Amino acid sequence: MSAQSSEFPALLSSTMLGHLAVRNRVVMAPMTRNRATKATLEPTDSTATYYAQRASAGLIITEATHVSANAVGYPFTPGIHTDGQVAAWRRVTDAVHARGGRIFVQLWHTGRVSHPLMQPDGSVPVAPSAIAAEGELMTYEGPRPLPTPRALEVAEIESIVHAFASAAGRAIEAGFDGVELHAANGYLVDQFLRDGANHRTDAYGGSLENRTRFLRELVEATAGVTGAHRVGVRISPTSTFNSMSDSEPGRLTTYVAQLLEPYGLAYLHVVDPEQTDGRTRRPVTALARRDFSGTVITNAGFTGDTAEQVIASGVADMVSFGAPLLATPDFVERLAEGAPLNTPDRGTFYGGDDRGYIDYPFRDGRPRLDLDALTAPA
Ligand code: PHB
Repeated sequence: MSAQSSEFPALLSSTMLGHLAVRNRVVMAPMTRNRATKATLEPTDSTATYYAQRASAGLIITEATHVSANAVGYPFTPGIHTDGQVAAWRRVTDAVHARGGRIFVQLWHTGRVSHPLMQPDGSVPVAPSAIAAEGELMTYEGPRPLPTPRALEVAEIESIVHAFASAAGRAIEAGFDGVELHAANGYLVDQFLRDGANHRTDAYGGSLENRTRFLRELVEATAGVTGAHRVGVRISPTSTFNSMSDSEPGRLTTYVAQLLEPYGLAYLHVVDPEQTDGRTRRPVTALARRDFSGTVITNAGFTGDTAEQVIASGVADMVSFGAPLLATPDFVERLAEGAPLNTPDRGTFYGGDDRGYIDYPFRDGRPRLDLDALTAPA
């Protein structure tokens, strides 16, 4: 059955992302899987199989990937700053491209969501302000309380901007189609954006102009390396994950959309859980759409049906799916055929072996573990 005859004519239609043609508007959302090698924090051959199995999505965005050794927060998460990591990612991008897929890497610095046990030199993690997130962090030695971070000096902010730009260059070297700046979910860039975590009184805190300065510098530095059409940005202005808050998330969204509008970026990706105050709404997506004329990707809790509606209505151009795509490698083909999806196994989301990683069945009931047998979808 061709995509056009399915119940998802908008979702399964092709589009352009920056200069890149994509087969459909299904995006694999970035998802941390904690399966990189411990000593070198490189993706493995299983990682290549995992992403290649999902190459029929219009775009894959990788799991969050650190830009430098001290950008690390969690165990077994990959980086993209060493030669070994670049070579390992090259195997992933080659496998995805061989199946006709597109893949961006999500560039990450965890900021205060780290711990001296996770830092290369045992130092205290950094953040815009010395304000701890609540709760515990999983380290290699077990869960530990999240520490109070050290507030960054201005010169250090500059060096982190350089680290992102350098990682963006490494991403191109590794064969990625582009990079996504992770400015969501309470990690470093988001810590600058939102006033619950940013109490600075210098040029990087206070006004929206100042709180978005770090993001603007990152966009300009990475776009300078890759071209703006290869840079996407992900934000989550209303998320409370990692103890985050903002006094005016709507104003922040509008400010970021207007700030990013002139650059000609690949996309703006918004984490926007459904609000059901009387009627169903995706408020962040609607605000982003109003001021950002490029591709808007929306995320959180979509089904095929709600994704079709949000694209058909013009509020978003693409929709990213997390757990559904994690659990169903041939998600796009199943939508096209009206076939049921696999059930996600939450117990294997974060860490472990190939179980719950590359053994989810395709439509015929068998996982495709052999990259050579994974044919390119039409
Ligand atoms: C996580 O590892 O829990 C995690 C990482 C990146 C995110 C969200 C959650 O954006």
